[in-house]
Amino acid sequence: MADRPSAALAAVDRALADARTASYDAAWAMPGAFYTDPVVLAAELDYLFHRQWICVGRVEEVASPGDFMAVDIGNEPVVVIRGVDGTLRALSNVCRHRAMPLAAGKGNAGKGLLCPYHHWSYDTTGRLLGTPRLGARPDFAIADCRLPAFALEEWLGFIFVCLDATAAPLAPVLSELEERIRPYHFEQTRLRYVADEVWLCNWKHLVENFMEGYHLSTLHRETLHKVNPTRLCRHFPPGDGYFGYYAGFDPSLPRGQKGHPDLRPEQYDDCVMFAIPPGLLVGGAADYSSFLCVQPAGIDRVRVKLGLIFYGEDWPEATVDWAVRLFQDTMAEDKTVLNELGRGVRSGHYRPGPLAGPDFEGPVLDFFRYLARHLPALSTPF
Ligand SMILES: [Fe+2]
Repeated sequence: MADRPSAALAAVDRALADARTASYDAAWAMPGAFYTDPVVLAAELDYLFHRQWICVGRVEEVASPGDFMAVDIGNEPVVVIRGVDGTLRALSNVCRHRAMPLAAGKGNAGKGLLCPYHHWSYDTTGRLLGTPRLGARPDFAIADCRLPAFALEEWLGFIFVCLDATAAPLAPVLSELEERIRPYHFEQTRLRYVADEVWLCNWKHLVENFMEGYHLSTLHRETLHKVNPTRLCRHFPPGDGYFGYYAGFDPSLPRGQKGHPDLRPEQYDDCVMFAIPPGLLVGGAADYSSFLCVQPAGIDRVRVKLGLIFYGEDWPEATVDWAVRLFQDTMAEDKTVLNELGRGVRSGHYRPGPLAGPDFEGPVLDFFRYLARHLPALSTPF
């Protein structure tokens, strides 16, 4: 029994290596340990969430000077805050005194952040301002003390933060994807719905689920199937930092009228589903789009921010409500399955099955290949 854990990890290593070279028509699902072994999660935190660009939400969430949102990136508390100078920054959300996280949730911090513990205060750039009753200390200079700042990029209205100061910029990696989706102008949309949830599944199961169209006509028979049936899904070639597919709208539906003038007529007929791994998933369309920001909160817990962004201002409340309901109903159907997959992959009798072809489960293989490129060998110490 003693060698079983590393044998399970060796099987994951082999499966990831196979994914790198498999064609879309000869790809396989992953072994159970990929979703259940804490060693895999430790590698994902170290090599993905603590090193790659992680999407934390939309610029509309922190639109005004002083607006902030507290986000954990992997295990690291971060606060994204718009300075009184209008600049958006990502700062360490940990007081330099005795490590109390400074900000919680979302709000407006006014001119700065105040630690709730001993009222140490910081300006919106992270500079330490006040240390009540500390007095003069020759071994501590307030003027030299500040919250560490992390790299932040805005891309089409999405906010990305990277904890690794040596990481390459994000935008160049996404240039080909941006070419493909630019006419939608997601940076000109308005956030009309956002929710933070915790789902009871491994984070990768949620990524795989959102990014494959194979289940649209089965699991979502009464919801999404009528809008985006599986038969109209078309894979597109992935890049280093993205992957995705088109989910065609059923031609019997009335064609949407709202959308940016740059859109070509045929772009009204598709939902462009794309992932910027590890954590951003977008279902983009001319009129309105959905997005998920996904991060692990344990081996079988995932933190997910779900949102809807709408193009244009003149949306009747009832139409927005209808879209929110469809989104919530669809996500509830996904949640039902995803909450069960953890039990399935822990079965001693599960063996990975073949993936359906590129138009249906191609993005799942793209995701495995991304992980294979970025994760170290899991069955040897890393
Ligand atoms: Fe789904």
